[in-house]
Amino acid sequence: MTVDNRREELLAAARAVRERAHAPYSRFAVGAAVLDEQGRIHAGCNVENAAYPQGWCAEASALAVMVAAGGKRVLAVAVCGVADDPVTPCGGCRQKLREFAADDCPIWITDLIQLRARHTLGELLPCSFGPEYLKP
Ligand code: THU
Repeated sequence: MTVDNRREELLAAARAVRERAHAPYSRFAVGAAVLDEQGRIHAGCNVENAAYPQGWCAEASALAVMVAAGGKRVLAVAVCGVADDPVTPCGGCRQKLREFAADDCPIWITDLIQLRARHTLGELLPCSFGPEYLKP
């Protein structure tokens, strides 16, 4: 089974969790879902707060849920947002994903209805710095 077989499920998880976004300041709700190495899906939304810069992204939430559940690797990512252009992960989240995902990890971007774009992490974050640089 390739990760592509899990795509619709991952997109659905990102769409569903987006409904739970706490984004009263930007009013820009985002949902993200990651597929871990055990085949489990973990989902998270953006969580803003009144001290604006202290909010965090949906991708960060999904990764935190995965790590808390014991997940070690990200095999695929889905991000759901609603905008004219596909809502791709911000720069900081690309690096956060890099910690757990390989360059060929698919990042699927969806709106409420359909897949809008597909990338790999390596496309979104080329020539990246990662944990292997710090190995002794
Ligand atoms: N946001 C995400 O959650 N993920 C992204 O990839 C882009 C931006 C959130 C952060 C903030 O809560 C809102 O969207 C507006 O920037």
